[in-house]
Amino acid sequence: RLRVLSGIQPTADSFHLGNYLGAVRQWVRLQDTHETFYCVVDLHAITVEQDPKVLRQRTRVSAAQLLALGVDPDRSTLFVQSQVPEHAQLSWVLECQTGFGEASRMTQFKDKAAKQGTDRASVGLFTYPVLQAADILLYQAHAVPVGEDQRQHLELSRNLAQRFNNRFGRTFVVPEAHIVKDTAKIYDLQDPTSKMSKSASAVNGLVELLDEPKRSAKKIRSAVTDTGREVVYDPEHKAGVANLLSIYSALTGRAISELETAYEGKGYGDLKKDLAEVLVEFVTPVQERVKSYLDDQAELDKVLARGAERAREVASATLAKVYDRVGFLPG
Ligand code: TYM
Repeated sequence: RLRVLSGIQPTADSFHLGNYLGAVRQWVRLQDTHETFYCVVDLHAITVEQDPKVLRQRTRVSAAQLLALGVDPDRSTLFVQSQVPEHAQLSWVLECQTGFGEASRMTQFKDKAAKQGTDRASVGLFTYPVLQAADILLYQAHAVPVGEDQRQHLELSRNLAQRFNNRFGRTFVVPEAHIVKDTAKIYDLQDPTSKMSKSASAVNGLVELLDEPKRSAKKIRSAVTDTGREVVYDPEHKAGVANLLSIYSALTGRAISELETAYEGKGYGDLKKDLAEVLVEFVTPVQERVKSYLDDQAELDKVLARGAERAREVASATLAKVYDRVGFLPG
């Protein structure tokens, strides 16, 4: 079985619809065909300022959401990044293989640093994508399920794997991004030409899985569309409607063409009303499951400890090989 690894940051009180449809849904599916490793990347989270108490809570809530959405700890290795020290260790070695200019070209870094002011942005924010490469390469992952916004980081991971292999001999599997086109980029409901994002979207543009379902339903009903009437999938001219159709199709498994037919002669209002209901039906049981995982924190922590232990077995073997290859003395 080929390996898969992916990660998600515990930097919000809830995952949003983009996180789920772009990434986590694929994580769940890949469990059927691959050996899967999924981590809550708390080391990445501290590249921007975090409150320690809030971070700890969000890390558990993230793990609980992954479980509630279908990550099965008996079939996947589910763990928290900081509990596997090899991530930080491999990251250092890879940082020494990464060009300063190469890292400077990462667009997510440039955007975030510009927002914070370059003087205030941390060095950790700069090396963030190298740590991400370490996450992936430690597990010899073949495929990395992510949304479109991670494509450039994945390209860096591939380059680092190839560079290391060329320089030191075959050590890493060169990973591939697993990006599912239909849901690779879910858009902001209020600004349907920008991606839905926890940091950039306005409150009403962002659908959070753990938000009050009624509030999310209202956000869907007040999504920005255009002045037309026909429900057809036309991302270029009807970005808002296209986004709603993508979400609708992904949540129900109905093809977009089937939805277009179903809404012939009806208006945007009908589409929004029905999608709002679909969403409520989706999030309600998820929220119940999240709550029950969080109610038994000792058990949740145990699941994560078991995951970390399993992850370490794989990660430590890769790291030992890397340390040997670069010329460190045996430990
Ligand atoms: P993060 O935590 O920002 O997002 C988690 C996943 O959600 C996807 N995503 C979206 N997909 C579609 N539409 C959207 N609007 C949308 N917004 C977010 C992201 O692409 C991502 O897959 N750097 C990563 C975390 C990471 C990682 C890794 C991923 C760290 N190490 C190793 C893969 C492998 C990030 O910030 O994701």
